[in-house]
Amino acid sequence: MIAIGCDHAGVEMKKEIIKALSEKGFEFKDMGTDGEPCDYPVIAEAVCGQILSGECEKGILICGTGIGMSIAANKFKGIRAALCSDSFSTKFTRLHNNSNVMCMGARTLGCGLGCELAEIFLTTGFEGGRHQRRIDLISAIEEKN
Ligand code: RB5
Repeated sequence: MIAIGCDHAGVEMKKEIIKALSEKGFEFKDMGTDGEPCDYPVIAEAVCGQILSGECEKGILICGTGIGMSIAANKFKGIRAALCSDSFSTKFTRLHNNSNVMCMGARTLGCGLGCELAEIFLTTGFEGGRHQRRIDLISAIEEKN
């Protein structure tokens, strides 16, 4: 199950992603907004909560630029959120960072690219090995701060 959420800027992209990727077998839990203006940190918290509780394995967050969502999501211990706008970074943030949340900007990307990047994010596995050591170091920073 994938948790997905957006603020008012990202509603159309979110709908397109749910439609395109549901057809490919992915299941989504939509944490809002349905269109009403809202504050992106509230949605980031709802999506990250789904991952930290184990209800969902990954999350997708969309706002105007994706930046506010990524700043908010990375405040949660255990969340590794990546701002994605190209296929190389999207692929490698899964391979090397084991990112569990992707953030995208609906005002900076088209819906077609958003759907394509979401599919890359959801279908690429973590490479492990030396990259796990680096993620452990990130976790240690979280513990210390
Ligand atoms: C909302 O207008 C906008 O600030 C928000 O969607 C986002 O871009 C914040 O980072």
